[in-house]
Amino acid sequence: MRYLFRPPATEAAGLLSLPWDQPLEQWDPAILLDVPQRGISRHVVRFVATGGHVYALKEIGERLARHEYALLAQFEEEGLPAVNVLGICVDRPGDQEAILVTRYLEYSMSYRWLFSRPQGEHSAEQLLDTMVVLLVRLHLAGVFWGDCSLSNTLFRLDAGTLAAYLVDAETVERYPSLSPGQRNHDVDLARERVGAELLDLRFGGLLPEGIDPIDVADSLPPRYESLWEEVTHEQTFSPEEQQYRVAERLRRLNELGFDVGEVEIITSDEGARLRVDTRVSEPGQNRRELFRLTGLEVHERQAQRLLNDIRAFRAYLEQQTGGPVPESYAAHRWHAEVYQLVVDAIPADLAGRLAPAEVFHEVLEHRWFLSEQAQSDVGTAEAAESYFAHVLPRTPAEVTTPSVIAGRGRR
Ligand SMILES: Nc1ncnc2c1ncn2[C@@H]1O[C@H](COP(=O)(O)OP(=O)(O)O)[C@@H](O)[C@H]1O
Ligand SMILES: [Mg+2]
Repeated sequence: MRYLFRPPATEAAGLLSLPWDQPLEQWDPAILLDVPQRGISRHVVRFVATGGHVYALKEIGERLARHEYALLAQFEEEGLPAVNVLGICVDRPGDQEAILVTRYLEYSMSYRWLFSRPQGEHSAEQLLDTMVVLLVRLHLAGVFWGDCSLSNTLFRLDAGTLAAYLVDAETVERYPSLSPGQRNHDVDLARERVGAELLDLRFGGLLPEGIDPIDVADSLPPRYESLWEEVTHEQTFSPEEQQYRVAERLRRLNELGFDVGEVEIITSDEGARLRVDTRVSEPGQNRRELFRLTGLEVHERQAQRLLNDIRAFRAYLEQQTGGPVPESYAAHRWHAEVYQLVVDAIPADLAGRLAPAEVFHEVLEHRWFLSEQAQSDVGTAEAAESYFAHVLPRTPAEVTTPSVIAGRGRR
């Protein structure tokens, strides 16, 4: 047998003791994690935990395994939202297929799980819009997916909004750029697959009433087209409004979560024509700022939320002391006295249901809700207590590394 691992290969050591010579389907359930079916899938896929990490293993032909391995590695280097690949195992005895190893996407959720959340705050429309953002990002980078579906997309919560990641790159083809025909073809494949998956949920009794699978799926192409148009269109302005318009356009792109690369302005008698080279890297200004202040690593919107809470806490400190308080000092105290207090209070049996920063975000939401009801501020500690007692237990458990380490999720 032959193993190929991407650096840091130290992680791979723990994986080597697994029974790679046996068909994945026959592996002893005692070494596997019990992950509920997360969507429609072609191959045998299993999950294992070793060395404090969780991995997904997929049995697949060697040519495809190598193809997927190379593509996922490229995606990681380019900052495209996809699962990270760790390695492959080939030349298994008796002409067995290869196994592709990816890192389990922490705190990711499948569309099935999202529909099973009782609050139902994530509508089918939101799910599609999130997928469309992913598809536009991939297309900007010249990626033809060929199998865009709800099953092949994983979702993560970022301060109550969703972010989407590609999980299955088997059918991906890369080009310097995609033609409109290629993009339309990809979008049309996605429309068909999403329609079939929503129908499947309907038959399983998992789709809320009032959602029409076909109507929802048919709304995917126009949603995609309008985002693509918004992100890529060329604009012409009169010279007087040029400066203002350029700034407005760039701000809008940032709001949509896209980075701006080169900006090209071509002037003529009619005015200025603007071409923007929209990039796909993850937005990160707030993340970096929060990391600088507190050392916390969270997603972008979560960071925005936490930074706002730090600002409010700093204003409170200034009120108390009657003088200016340095930002770094306020952030340090907020981390220890506000954030960590909430995170440490998460009951052990509910640990790992949501990322700590997402729990904190939900506690802030809950505080607002309780304060509205009481017509006065209830404070973070009281809000957290009520949230842990009444809200977090209703969030179904998905397999996450913290929950595995705590000993749950085993077969
Ligand atoms: N790295 C991963 N993290 C989390 N879930 C994963 C990961 N890899 C696969 N899965 C889950 O397993 C399912 C099947 O994997 P996929 O690569 O799509 O295989 P298939 O070719 O069988 O469709 C996915 O829909 C996803 O829910
Ligand atoms: Mg798949």
